[in-house]
Amino acid sequence: MTITKDIMDAAKYVAVEAGKILLKHFGKTLKIEEKGLRDIVTDADRESEEFIKDFLSREFPDISFYGEESGGKFEGLTWLVDPLDGTKNFAKGLDIFAVSIALLEDRKPIMGVVHIPTKGMTFWASEGKGAYVNGRKLLLDEGCSLDRSFVATGFPHGNPELVDPYIVGLRRVLKKAMAVRRLGSAAYDLVMVAYGMFDGFWEFGLKPWDTAAGAIISKEAGAVITDIYGRDWDIFSLTVLAAKKNLHRELVEIFSQ
Ligand code: IPD
Ligand code: CA
Ligand code: CA
Repeated sequence: MTITKDIMDAAKYVAVEAGKILLKHFGKTLKIEEKGLRDIVTDADRESEEFIKDFLSREFPDISFYGEESGGKFEGLTWLVDPLDGTKNFAKGLDIFAVSIALLEDRKPIMGVVHIPTKGMTFWASEGKGAYVNGRKLLLDEGCSLDRSFVATGFPHGNPELVDPYIVGLRRVLKKAMAVRRLGSAAYDLVMVAYGMFDGFWEFGLKPWDTAAGAIISKEAGAVITDIYGRDWDIFSLTVLAAKKNLHRELVEIFSQ
């Protein structure tokens, strides 16, 4: 499918408006429920998703919808939405969170929008058409070695069985990297790779809605996206590695040892 300006504008609009809903709740008392193993959801997650779902279903009745909080179906063309990525940061008043909206064609992201309400930054990309932030095209350099790189990761705290294998790689990276950060929002991490703030990012056990939009944005900006062993990545992969070209090669070697 060809991504028209109208469809991209609609996705950007709804992401920004959902961001306003999040900001309205941010720093206030939230209704917090436990929805899984050490996993929470707030009324802000729900309100943001409801707004995005209503808007996209009304504007694009022929496109399926899948949201983290309300589910749905992955069928043909599908909107895949994380209405608040970084819920725990949000609930604790840490201002690192994002709204993530991807359009999938046969389960593959063909466009993505990630909006960071606290920074007023909206990132977007579509397949083969490049990545942008607030209208400025993003183009990454080829990167450098790990000892001069600023990298980000996420901990697999919700998947106890992934902790040990994850720590093996983290230990190797910690011994070589210039610096390692853990922000707590995978969509945010991925667009910060596209932005060139992070030279690379890896995480285990993410869900399709965490990565779909951020991955196409960082890829279109010039990052390489695979799993941590350098194999083809898709939204159902167990691990993700997004990095500038030269760093990507070094990280794959490190993780594959
Ligand atoms: C979480 C964030 C976090 C990652 C978790 C995700 P949520 O998403 O992306 O960085 O480490 O695995 O679940 O739950 O805040 O939407
Ligand atoms: Ca998420
Ligand atoms: Ca979420």
